[in-house]
Amino acid sequence: MARLQHRGMTSEPWRVGVLFSTTGFMAVIEETQLRGTLLAIDEINAAGGIDEREIMPVLYNPASETSAFGHYAKRLMVTDDITTIFGCYTSSSRKAVLPVVERLNGLLWYPTLYEGFEFSPNVIYTGAAPNQNSVALCRFLIANYGLRFYFIGSDYIYPRESNRIMRGIIRSNGGEVAGERYVGLRAKPADFLPVMRDIQELRPDVIFSTVVGDATVALYQACADAGLDPKVTPIASLTTTEAEIRAMGFDVGEGHITAAPYFQGSGGERDASFVSRYKKRYGEDEPTNMCVEAAYFQVHIFAKALEATNSMDTDILRPMVLGSSLDAPQGRVSIDASHHTSLWTRIGRANRRGQFEVLQQSRSAVLADPFMIGCG
Ligand code: ACM
Repeated sequence: MARLQHRGMTSEPWRVGVLFSTTGFMAVIEETQLRGTLLAIDEINAAGGIDEREIMPVLYNPASETSAFGHYAKRLMVTDDITTIFGCYTSSSRKAVLPVVERLNGLLWYPTLYEGFEFSPNVIYTGAAPNQNSVALCRFLIANYGLRFYFIGSDYIYPRESNRIMRGIIRSNGGEVAGERYVGLRAKPADFLPVMRDIQELRPDVIFSTVVGDATVALYQACADAGLDPKVTPIASLTTTEAEIRAMGFDVGEGHITAAPYFQGSGGERDASFVSRYKKRYGEDEPTNMCVEAAYFQVHIFAKALEATNSMDTDILRPMVLGSSLDAPQGRVSIDASHHTSLWTRIGRANRRGQFEVLQQSRSAVLADPFMIGCG
C-alpha cells in the first residue's frame, strides 16, 4: 500500500538506507562512495531538507562480504521499514541486494560502473555501462598502443562479463586477446607472479585490468617491480580511480590509463566547487573519483524526485526519477526509461600527483546502451 505523506503533516526525517563497506578489501573505494553519499545528504539537510524534513541515513557496514549486502538490505527494508537504499560497489553485492529490493519493492541506487545486460525496475544505475567506457577505451588503446591485449581481473561476475564484452569490442576493432587470467578478490602480491610471467612471455601491447579493491595496489606494484614501462605497455582499467592510485602511491600509478565518466577536476567550475566541499569535509589529501561523484549526484537526483512527490513509495518516486536530469560535477547527466544514466566518457592518464590528465572526452553525455544494441 502506498505510504503517502502529506506536506507539512510531520517533521519526522526521511530515512534512507546506505550500504557501503568501511572495512575489508573493498573499503578503499566503497568508503569514498559512503563519503559522497553523506556529503550530498548533508548539503540537502543544510539547505532545509525536503519539505522541511531532514534526510536521515541508516548505515550498515557489510565489511566487503557479498552475503552481508543481502542481509543488511533485508534488515533495512523489513526491520527498519526503509524503501530507498544507496549502495553497493561490486556487481556481486548488487546481485545479492537485487532479490530483496525486487521482492519488497524497494529502490536501490547503484553508483558503480558495471557489466550491463541487466534491467531491474527496482534499481537506478548511475555508473557507466560498457558502451560508456569500454568502447572508447578500446579504440584509444588500439590507436595508441597496439592490437594485443592481456586481460587481468578479479574473479567474480563483473570482470568476467566485462571481459566478455571487451573481447568482442577488441575483435571488432581488429585486435586480439593474447591472454586472460583472474585472481581472487583478496589477492596478495604473490598471486600476481604468474600474471607477470604471462606478460613477459606474451608481450601484449596493453594490460587491461578489471581488478578491484586492495588487489589493485598489488597488481600495479607487481608491474612496477617487473620494470614494465607504462609509456610502452600501460595498464588500462575501468576500475582504477584516484582512490586506488592514492593507496598504491602516485609513483606506482603514474602513466597508467583509466576510462571513467569523471576524474577529479574534469568537470569545470561545478566540479571545482564539489571538490573543494569534499576536501573541506574529508581532508585536503582526499581526492574525489568517479564512484564518489556518482554516489553524490544520485542522492541529489533522489532529493529532487522526493521534493516533487513528497513520498518514499517506490511506485510514486520512480516515475519522477526516470527522465530527470542534473548538473552533476562531471557535467549534465540524465536518467532514462531503462533506469540507466547518460554519462560522459573520458579517458585519463595518471600523473605524478595521483590525478588523471584527460586525454579524450565525449562532447556531451553518452546515452547508456546496457544491452549493447547499438554496438554491433
Ligand atoms: C563492479 O563490480 N561493478 C565494478
